[in-house]
Amino acid sequence: MNLGNPVAVVETERLLLRPFTPADFSALYAYQSRADVTRYLLWDGRTEDQVREALGKKIAATVVVSEGDFLALAVELKETGAVIGDLTLELFSWEHACGELGYIVHPDHHGHGYATEGGRAMLSIAFDELCLHRVIGRLEPRNVASARVLEKLGMRREAHFVENEYLKGEWQSEAVYAILDREWRARTS
Ligand SMILES: CC(C)(COP(=O)(O)OP(=O)(O)OC[C@H]1O[C@@H](n2cnc3c(N)ncnc32)[C@H](O)[C@@H]1OP(=O)(O)O)[C@@H](O)C(=O)NCCC(=O)NCCS
Repeated sequence: MNLGNPVAVVETERLLLRPFTPADFSALYAYQSRADVTRYLLWDGRTEDQVREALGKKIAATVVVSEGDFLALAVELKETGAVIGDLTLELFSWEHACGELGYIVHPDHHGHGYATEGGRAMLSIAFDELCLHRVIGRLEPRNVASARVLEKLGMRREAHFVENEYLKGEWQSEAVYAILDREWRARTS
């Protein structure tokens, strides 16, 4: 199964997860430009031009048909209408039915459970709509907030690669988390 039609708005208790539009530039720039936000990401704080390019890719990322496609959804607070972050789901392989979850929340809104709430909705898309078998999440083990989000989603730490990447002027490590469709169903049924 695939998401051949653009994903509709997904509503959770406090959030609207919806496709990006050109009007989201300021909100995206507000967090993508910050060094504290990108500290453990593969990229550095972005310039306006870089954010414009990233926004173009996010606007286009509404269908998941081929390997390498990803779904990008803006995280909008229902209460205020503000865009406070984004969620991604990338399809690695149809053959192995595997994808990867990603998320960013603006620091002004950390600690309210928004990444976990949005992540749960993305896992539901992954398992219920895309029928994936396995979803992973990868992070720098010092990124404790991110590790906690994946644990709260019921994901298992399966690997810890020690200093396997040279990033941002230092050796960084990588932890890999995963959850299977049957594990997701056992948690949600
Ligand atoms: C990771 C991130 C998305 C979490 O967003 P969030 O909306 O604050 O996440 P949640 O509120 O759902 O959960 C965060 C959890 O981490 C915990 N946490 C946060 N900082 C922590 C710290 N320094 N030490 C220990 N726990 C920490 C919170 O207490 C919370 O756990 P709890 O519910 O058990 O109390 C956010 O920190 C972020 O955008 N970081 C920068 C981008 C990034 O690193 N993305 C992930 C790439 S792998």
